[in-house]
Amino acid sequence: MTSEALTSSHTTAIAHLNSHQQQHKWSLRDLFASDNQRAQRFSAEAAGIYLDYSKNHLRDDTLQLLLNYAEQIDLPEQIQALLSGAAINNTEHRPALHSALRFQGEPQTEHEQAVADCREQMRKFTEQIHSGNWRGFTGKRIEHIVNIGIGGSDLGPRMVVEALRPWQKDDISVHFVANIDGADLSDTIAKLPAENTLFIVASKSFSTLETRQNALSARRWILDAGCPESDLAKHFVAVSSNIVAAQDFGIAAENIFPMWDWVGGRYSLWSAIGLPIALACGYETFEALLTGAHAMDTHFASAPLGENLPVLLALIHFWYRQCWGAGSQVILPYARRLAQFPAWMQQLDMESLGKGVTREGQFLSYPSGSVIWGTEGSNGQHSFHQLLHQGTDLIPADFIAVKEPTSELREQHQWLLSCCISQSQALLRGKSLHEARQELEEQGHTHREAQALAPHKVVPGNRPSNTLIIERLDPHHLGALLALYEHKVFTHGCLLGINPFDQWGVELGKLLGARIHEAIGKTAPEDWDSSTQTLLEKLF
Ligand code: F6P
Repeated sequence: MTSEALTSSHTTAIAHLNSHQQQHKWSLRDLFASDNQRAQRFSAEAAGIYLDYSKNHLRDDTLQLLLNYAEQIDLPEQIQALLSGAAINNTEHRPALHSALRFQGEPQTEHEQAVADCREQMRKFTEQIHSGNWRGFTGKRIEHIVNIGIGGSDLGPRMVVEALRPWQKDDISVHFVANIDGADLSDTIAKLPAENTLFIVASKSFSTLETRQNALSARRWILDAGCPESDLAKHFVAVSSNIVAAQDFGIAAENIFPMWDWVGGRYSLWSAIGLPIALACGYETFEALLTGAHAMDTHFASAPLGENLPVLLALIHFWYRQCWGAGSQVILPYARRLAQFPAWMQQLDMESLGKGVTREGQFLSYPSGSVIWGTEGSNGQHSFHQLLHQGTDLIPADFIAVKEPTSELREQHQWLLSCCISQSQALLRGKSLHEARQELEEQGHTHREAQALAPHKVVPGNRPSNTLIIERLDPHHLGALLALYEHKVFTHGCLLGINPFDQWGVELGKLLGARIHEAIGKTAPEDWDSSTQTLLEKLF
């Protein structure tokens, strides 16, 4: 579809949606009051994940308008193109085949064969580490793994390892270092013995500043601890598509796990970038994660659009972004072990959808992706939920609840889930001025006092949310949840008509970072702005 055709379909669809919104001013309370089957009708389930999207400003006709637009832009064909490996990353002329990373059964394609070989390499390596056959330079078994990577080479495995804590092996500890701030690496290795620590240098490009600097420091640390150069291979492996650069760094060819240009960094935890997951939790756990994601891939490929979980989530997000002025979306996993999930989502969504042009390079005449933020529930309730409830912005929320308790403290789990449900209910219901006044009078306040205080107690309500329930926080369901959001982001990219698979916006900062570093201790070029010049003087 050309940019003109897309922009015209988009303009028409948004015009219809806007007039629909103006004509039918409904409240969420009314929508529920007029339909006692609403929760049943506006819900869907797949791959062990239940989605309740009834607490949204949606009626059947709203959804139909959104689905019409999805059909108009050939969404089913676009999904098919993604999954079949067409070069949909049109600015880099590549497919985006993260779904091939979780194929099941016998390999059928060249990509799947490469993935199968890589899985075997990961399995064998994990086995060598766990069995103690892999030894450090003093002959001791490896007990500590440090993953050095950033962005997609960090956030996914970091989040999954934490989420799957009950699967973690007792005799191995896995750590993550991302920040170029030396405190990250030095705080991590301070407690580790070099002789039985192994580093994974995870970098698709093997040129990322932060990762290279941390890897060089780690190398120095191992050498300073007495490791001969000839034994460095016992302490370093790499995951990269840049084999030459990894070898130049000193990593033995047989210790380099492949990455491919057809896998985007933020979609890569299913590749050897997930090695820390296999090492921390066992190779079979990593496989179970893949099967869960594959179940979601199958659903995404085959379910009708109106029952398709990723599509529904994307349509809803699109609706609030384009027609309700929602500049952000909050992600609230009510699970301590999913604390890192919003950070993973941020890169996934914002690096994918933070674009200013259509696939064909025309400047967007409508909003692109929005801000994604959040934290683990219930902690957020005691910090930023105030703004969700009474602030002036509409901020759609995704609540994620886990049905099965994640600890033996079952009573606390009941409280956790009650908190989760009550937050979406409070967002929906709110409290009117009349209700606030009445409540105050019932509490013994005079009419005058109640009049004065009531406006402060008003909670507008009518604020939308989705609730996702996953059966258990196990590898399979986690895999399905992550794939659900990956496909949601892709679908949202289709609805926006942008390429969600490049990220050239980050390049300018990288380039300028190198120039600034070069200018340290020298006179800054005169054509630099005075703020940059002054900051350089003050800091160095
Ligand atoms: O600069 C952004 C980015 O390229 C991300 O897209 C990527 O996940 C991250 O940096 C790390 O890149 P690499 O794996 O090549 O080190």
